[in-house]
Amino acid sequence: MKYDVKQLPLISNNQIADGIFDMRLAYNADELPVQCGQFAHVYVPGKTLRRPISVCDAADGVLRLVYQVKGEGTRIMSRMKAGQDVDVLFPLGHGFTVESGKRYCLIGGGIGVPPMLYTAKQCKAPLVITGFRNKDLVILQNDFEAAGAQLLLCTDDGTAGQKGFVTDLLKEHLDEVDEVCACGPTPMLKAIAQVCAEAGKPCQVSLEERMGCGIGACLVCAVKVRKDGQEIMRHVCKDGPVFNAEEVVF
Ligand SMILES: Cc1cc2nc3c(=O)[nH]c(=O)nc-3n(C[C@H](O)[C@H](O)[C@H](O)COP(=O)(O)OP(=O)(O)OC[C@H]3O[C@@H](n4cnc5c(N)ncnc54)[C@H](O)[C@@H]3O)c2cc1C
Ligand code: FES
Repeated sequence: MKYDVKQLPLISNNQIADGIFDMRLAYNADELPVQCGQFAHVYVPGKTLRRPISVCDAADGVLRLVYQVKGEGTRIMSRMKAGQDVDVLFPLGHGFTVESGKRYCLIGGGIGVPPMLYTAKQCKAPLVITGFRNKDLVILQNDFEAAGAQLLLCTDDGTAGQKGFVTDLLKEHLDEVDEVCACGPTPMLKAIAQVCAEAGKPCQVSLEERMGCGIGACLVCAVKVRKDGQEIMRHVCKDGPVFNAEEVVF
């Protein structure tokens, strides 16, 4: 799939939860179509390496990136103002494979929730399970509802939705779906992969690794996967970030 470097005009960059920002950029989808689960590599002025951020949505001439301020790079991003251009290398990576005729359960944990919105828009009436540490970090609930999802919410401390983990909700509803797609912290992905493997349900997971180039040239983002009984290295930026869960060596 083709990618390019674009200077995209920043439309807005608003805080939507504690330390979480919703960056909206003007872009032409006909020029650069985006697959759900792909990511953008954002240039941050003053930093050598770009920052990888998943595509949260790409509709009506707007590319949406929802990100959490973690360190210096994302802090600089949060100070970017409407009207300035943002230098973005995208769309990168291999995203989720969504087939018509299947019912999907899409699971997002914490800042792994944003890519599931654009994924939900590619599915028919998906079941979406979102999990957060607490109520102050809950995001995108109205967007998922507007996308026609059946939406379930849980928090670790029970301050919003059901108290507990996404895997609790997954176990209750796994029979209702054909396949699971998930993005979030590695322990969460590992637990989801295990639940799906035990039930014999296919599962795709979006992995996160530190990145250099974002296009398969520097080999920084290597992960171990299992193919034909052998463990081999693959690269999250080019072969992923989405992999079949059964292939991933967690
Ligand atoms: C494929 C992919 C998609 C992602 N999508 C999102 C998203 O939609 N929203 C979001 O908030 N975050 C997302 N992340 C994580 C995000 O890239 C990091 O939080 C961000 O790069 C941190 O940069 P920083 O300068 O603020 O932090 P620092 O800790 O100062 O960063 C130092 C360096 O480490 C890298 N780094 C630090 N944490 C991570 C991390 N968790 N993953 C990869 N590189 C990291 C930075 O890119 C930078 O090169 C994604 C990561 C990957 C790999
Ligand atoms: S980031 Fe360079 S190969 Fe993946």
